[in-house]
Amino acid sequence: MLSPAIFWSRQLMIMGLIAVALSMACSAPSTPSSDGTAGVPRYTRHDVHSYANTDQVKVQHIDLDLNVLFDERLLRGTVTLTVDRVQPDADTIILDTRNLTIRRIETSAPNGDAWPATFQEGPPDLILGAPLTVFMPPGATQVSIWYETSPVASGLQWLVPSQTTGKQRPFMFTQSQAIHARSWIPLQDSPGVRMTYSARVRTPSDLRAVMSAANYPETPTTGDYRFEMKQPIPSYLIALAVGDLDFEALGTRVGVYAEPAVLSLAAREFEDTEAMISATERLYGPYRWERYDLLVLPPSFPFGGMENPRLTFATPTILAGDKSLVSLVAHELAHSWSGNLVTNATWRDFWLNEGFTTYLERRILEQVYGHRRERMEAAIGRQALNEELDRLSDQDEVLHLDLTGRDPDDGMTQVPYEKGALFLRHLEEAAGRERFDEFLRGYFEEFAFQSITTDEFLTYLGEHLLENGEESLAEVPINMWLQEPGLPVNAPKVSAEVFVSVERQAQGWLTEDLSAAALTTTAWTTHEWLHFIDVLPDRLSPSRLHELDVAFNLTSARNSEIAHKWLLLATRSGYKPANERLREYLLSIGRRKLIQPLYRALAETTEGHMRALDIYRVARPGYHPITVGTIDQILGWDG
Ligand code: BES
Ligand code: ZN
Repeated sequence: MLSPAIFWSRQLMIMGLIAVALSMACSAPSTPSSDGTAGVPRYTRHDVHSYANTDQVKVQHIDLDLNVLFDERLLRGTVTLTVDRVQPDADTIILDTRNLTIRRIETSAPNGDAWPATFQEGPPDLILGAPLTVFMPPGATQVSIWYETSPVASGLQWLVPSQTTGKQRPFMFTQSQAIHARSWIPLQDSPGVRMTYSARVRTPSDLRAVMSAANYPETPTTGDYRFEMKQPIPSYLIALAVGDLDFEALGTRVGVYAEPAVLSLAAREFEDTEAMISATERLYGPYRWERYDLLVLPPSFPFGGMENPRLTFATPTILAGDKSLVSLVAHELAHSWSGNLVTNATWRDFWLNEGFTTYLERRILEQVYGHRRERMEAAIGRQALNEELDRLSDQDEVLHLDLTGRDPDDGMTQVPYEKGALFLRHLEEAAGRERFDEFLRGYFEEFAFQSITTDEFLTYLGEHLLENGEESLAEVPINMWLQEPGLPVNAPKVSAEVFVSVERQAQGWLTEDLSAAALTTTAWTTHEWLHFIDVLPDRLSPSRLHELDVAFNLTSARNSEIAHKWLLLATRSGYKPANERLREYLLSIGRRKLIQPLYRALAETTEGHMRALDIYRVARPGYHPITVGTIDQILGWDG
């Protein structure tokens, strides 16, 4: 074995060489090509958001043994990583970590030999966390790490009973995307690496643990659970939740987990899930994950949904009672093809996950709820993209986004979602729907259980769709879609024809030809209301809002999306009767997309900013670390 001093000086030299090689590879020369993607730069698979030396060693399987300690707000246990030595002479593995306490590390060989390992923790970076370098003696194929998480782990949220719906028992859950898995497991935290996993999780004996793996709802709550994920997945899809959870089956391969108090509401809201799965299978090929279950989280869940394989995590804010917000289920389900089966290799390629998924989501909605519903959702999405484009800088408007030196969560704007979906819609219109669907089926088949870059997608596109050089396809400006800000001039138009009547009424009211009471809104669904508020100016006089409020009680709207849009308009307009409802909303919901714009609007005036701080002081302890990070910035919060 090398002495630590020689070992480390050699490590530094190797890392230096890697850095030089990468900086050369990343200069990305433009390569001419004959497949219609000429001029599109070629990029490497290098992931700037991971320290892992995946070109030397690759983790193939991880085995977790974790204790969930609510009193200490931490996970304590062991992870064993089984690795493939891609370069046989590689003698170190570099892992990603954030705020972990490493107690002990051991390496072992298939024949049972085991060695206490030499390891080194590097200095922490604010965005990336810290590298953990472990020396691996020749023959070692496993690394076992005894560790515990920090109470402030960015990927975990610990809820006290009062923050749950039932108010009796505590709750905890993980959120690993984009780079938070490293805050609860030391691993190669890059979407370019896929692994299978198994886990044993111990919890208080009356709580149930569920994971993004095979779950066994029929097993009694014992406080000792085992899980297995047999398909290789990227680290950001490893997920765990623990709480007072019941289960209800919605079909033979579909079900929902939730706190007892919301279970039956959730079961009704999600009753079309099986229909969505079979619709997606008809369009894009078999569902490859056996079961599809949903987990309804407490209201502090920072996202609308998270596509954890076999077990979508969802915010309770979509339980509207009328299925009006289940496009979120279509979206997370669609990730079972785009994202979980074919995965973005780096966060730069995030649009491959979300653009494809948003496109698929709309196709599923059309199948299950009809053309009109799909057109309404697409028009609302298009409007959200417009508003985002008004706000973003040019460099953030490109699909193939350079996130070097930035938090990959910053890339989560409407651009990868709606601009990405529009790009695919453009290809669909140019190729014809039938041909494009066949292309997508082939794509999911070709890259199943692989992580790919934008470049690999482009090569496949060139070879399988653009190959004949047809005029209609040649007019899709691929390079522009991927590398330029804004939208190409010939981008598909999203017609708001379904909303003509809503728009006519809005106009009539704005010009005061129609009084609020005279608007014919009885047949309006959630989507008409959302569009109605969307087409009103950003701010109106308080008296005009009062008029609408008297007629339609919008301040009391319970639908989380309608309430969001109304409260945003009310805040910008200084409409005081909504102040109390705004406070209640911000105190009861932690979903970032719904509250971030409200805090931003409040922060625009001195009075609003003070009111925001006042609310935030109370709300902050209940928000997820990811939401806290965002709102701290908006309000300039420093404690
Ligand atoms: N995978 C995303 C959530 C995500 C993205 C978490 C990036 C962390 C980093 C999920 O599929 C998603 O897009 N959720 C949306 C809902 C959807 C209907 C647009 C959300 O949470 O708002
Ligand atoms: Zn998504």
